[in-house]
Amino acid sequence: MKMKAPRGTVDILPPKVQHWQYVESIIKNICDRFNFKEIRTPLFEHTEVFQRGVGDTTDIVQKEMYTFMDRGGRSITLRPEGTAAVVRAFVENKLYGSVNQPVKLYYFAEMFRYERPQQGRMRQLNQFGVEVLGSADPAIDAEVIALAMTCYKELGLQSIKLVINSLGDKESRTNHRNALVDHFDPHINELCSDCQNRLHHNPLRILDCKKDMDHPSMASAPSILDYLNEESAAYFNKVQAYLDGMNIPYVVDKNLVRGLDYYNHTAFEIMSEAEGFGAITTLLGGGRYNNLAAELGGPDTPGIGFAMGLERLLMALEAEDISIPTDDQLDCYLLAIGEETDTKAVELLNTLRQNGIQADKDYQGKKMKAQFKQADRLQAKYVLILGETELENETIIVRTMETGEQEEIPMNQLVDKLEKELLGGSTIE
Ligand code: HAM
Repeated sequence: MKMKAPRGTVDILPPKVQHWQYVESIIKNICDRFNFKEIRTPLFEHTEVFQRGVGDTTDIVQKEMYTFMDRGGRSITLRPEGTAAVVRAFVENKLYGSVNQPVKLYYFAEMFRYERPQQGRMRQLNQFGVEVLGSADPAIDAEVIALAMTCYKELGLQSIKLVINSLGDKESRTNHRNALVDHFDPHINELCSDCQNRLHHNPLRILDCKKDMDHPSMASAPSILDYLNEESAAYFNKVQAYLDGMNIPYVVDKNLVRGLDYYNHTAFEIMSEAEGFGAITTLLGGGRYNNLAAELGGPDTPGIGFAMGLERLLMALEAEDISIPTDDQLDCYLLAIGEETDTKAVELLNTLRQNGIQADKDYQGKKMKAQFKQADRLQAKYVLILGETELENETIIVRTMETGEQEEIPMNQLVDKLEKELLGGSTIE
C-alpha cells in the first residue's frame, strides 16, 4: 500500500513553513501590543465540551466531529474549534478568580472537522484565535475586531471586508426566533430536510443554509435587527461607534448568522475580496458568547472572540501577491578535505554553532567540487576550507562567496572573525 496523508490534510514542507512562521511572528507581536496572553489547551477534549459548548444542533457537532471511544470507554473528540476548549480551561483553572480581568487569551492551534475538502477547506485546519472572558463592555468587542483588522493590515492585505451583525440578548433572540418559525412554517415543505429539522430546534440556522439560500422565503425572512430590545440595540450602537472612532470600515449584514450556537450580541466575519481568491472567502469569524462559561459549569461570565483560518490567510496573501520575507541563506559551509580532517571538522562545526553561527558540512562523502556546489545551493555566505596542510598549521581558509576572495587565518581566530563580519563589524573590539 502506498502511504498517503489522509484526505483533507497536508504536509507543510520547510520552505513553506517559513511563511507560517512569518505570519505567526507578526500576529504574536500584535497580540503582545494588545496585551493578550497565549494559552495552549489539549488537542482533544471530552466530547461533551463541544456538544454543550458549540451546540447539539450545529453542523459541527452533528456531522463534522472526529469522535471516538478511548480505551477507558470515554467519548473523546479532536477539537473542532477553540472557543469551547478555552472556556472549559478558563472555568476549570478558575481564571475568573484572577486579579487581572478581563482575561485576554490567544492561541494558534490545529482543529479537526470532517468536512468535504476543497480549496480552503481542510479536515485538519489551523486557526489563530482570541478569547476575552470577563467583560461585557462593547469596547472589548471593538478591541477584538480591531486586533483582527490589525493582523490583516500589518500583513499587507488590502482587499478585505468586515461584516458585523447583532444577535441580541436572550429576549431579543426569543422574539426573533418565534418570528422566524412563523415565517418559515408555511414554506417548510419546500426547504431541505436539514432546515425542516432546524425549524423547531434552531430556526436561526435556516438563514445560514447553503442549499436553500436562493429560496424566496430567505430574502423576506424577519431580521434580528428589527427584534433587538432597547438594551441590545444600544449595545450594538456602541460597538459601531467605537469602530467608527477607530476608522475601521465595516458593513452591517442583518443576515449574518454564525454556524455555532453560543453566540449572542455582536457577531462578525471578515472576507477576502481579492480577485481569484476562490469560492470560500471567509477568512475569520467571531462573536460574543455571554452564556458559554455558565453552560460549561462555570460562573456567569461574558466572553467574546474570533478565530481566523491560517490556510485561508496564506491563500489571501498569495492572491494579493504579497511576498513574504524568507531567509534561505546559510552563514557557513565547512568543506573538509582528506580523512585526517574529519574529527577537526566535526569539532569546528560544533564550536561555530555553540557561538551562535549557523554552519553545516557534507555528510555524504562528496568530492571537493560537489561540496562547493552544495555550498552554492545552500547559499552559504562563507565556505571554510580545511585541508590537511591547514590542519597541520592550525589554520583555515575563509572564502567569501559573494566576492570570491579568500584568506587563510589561524583557526583560533575563526569565530571572532566570522562574528565580526556576520554582525557587520558591529561587535566591540
Ligand atoms: P468558525 O467560523 O467555525 O469559528 O471558524 C473560524 C475560521 O476558521 C473560518 O472563518 C475559516 O477561516 C477557518 N475554518 C473553519 N473551518 C475550516 C476548514 N474546514 N478549513 C479551513 N479553514 C477553516 C470558530 O471556529 C469559532 N471558534 C470562532 C470564535 C472564537 N468565536 C468566538 N471565539
